[in-house]
Amino acid sequence: MNFINRDVISISDFSKEEILFILDTAEKIENKGSFGLLNDKILAVLFFEPSTRTRLSFESAMHRLGGRVLGFSDYLSTSTKKGESLHDTIKMVENYADIIVIRHFLDGAARLAADATEKPIINAGDGSNQHPTQTLLDLFTIRKLHGKIDTLHIGFVGDLKYGRTVHSLAAALSHFNVQLYFISPETLKMPKHLLEELSAKNIQYIVSDKIEEFIPKLDVLYATRIQQERFADRNEYEKVKDSYILTKKMLHDAKPTLKILHPLPRVNEISRELDDTPYAAYFEQAKYGVVVRKAIIGLLAGVYK
Ligand code: CP
Repeated sequence: MNFINRDVISISDFSKEEILFILDTAEKIENKGSFGLLNDKILAVLFFEPSTRTRLSFESAMHRLGGRVLGFSDYLSTSTKKGESLHDTIKMVENYADIIVIRHFLDGAARLAADATEKPIINAGDGSNQHPTQTLLDLFTIRKLHGKIDTLHIGFVGDLKYGRTVHSLAAALSHFNVQLYFISPETLKMPKHLLEELSAKNIQYIVSDKIEEFIPKLDVLYATRIQQERFADRNEYEKVKDSYILTKKMLHDAKPTLKILHPLPRVNEISRELDDTPYAAYFEQAKYGVVVRKAIIGLLAGVYK
């Protein structure tokens, strides 16, 4: 399988076999040394939107591979502020780096960046569209915790309209034999076109605004933040911001093997009292960001095969 110099824009650009190959590569390298593998390579991290995990885990992954990192986390300190287009920014950065990671507040920005350069572009989240590397680490986590993906009952709760991690993960899960549950307020439902794509692939799913009745069925509950920054109207955010707050009490009928995932950051949607329970898998999930991103960078650079 050849990943050299490929763009990672949408999880839908990857076949099931390719997705599993990336997960297997991450598993293979998890406890192996890697320093020096990329000591002549530079990774650019261009973040036009805030991030903690994605940017720092990409940087950590590149450092652990022995490579170097340049970039910015505040685009207002760059020439974008003077009116430079994304296309022109990418045309400059392609001279400075071998692989370019981009996060942007606009849907489609990563694809636009990829069209501007021959260098590999990795989408670290574009608006409410896609977050493919998050999806790969989500799948890695699910497989690690349950030993499989097929036959699992997987619920999504929270902001399913704007949640790019949900959109990416649901698309990836369409390769597997899973039962999905989409639980959200009416105004934050999963986009219709994504549900239609699942139906076209015969994936069974239920859409609801109630969570309690589905909890006993779930193997994985993927919670998400209601994203204030995506709302044009603050009042609409206020109406839904506390719709689902997971507590110990809510989980009294849950399977003992239920795992709660969350791409993080959380605000208040998972009560802190759950952090020390066997259900909580979100910090472990975030930890896997480094090894999965190491695998992705290494595959694009051709040092993992
Ligand atoms: N999961 C995730 O994308 O987190 P950050 O916004 O902190 O990168």
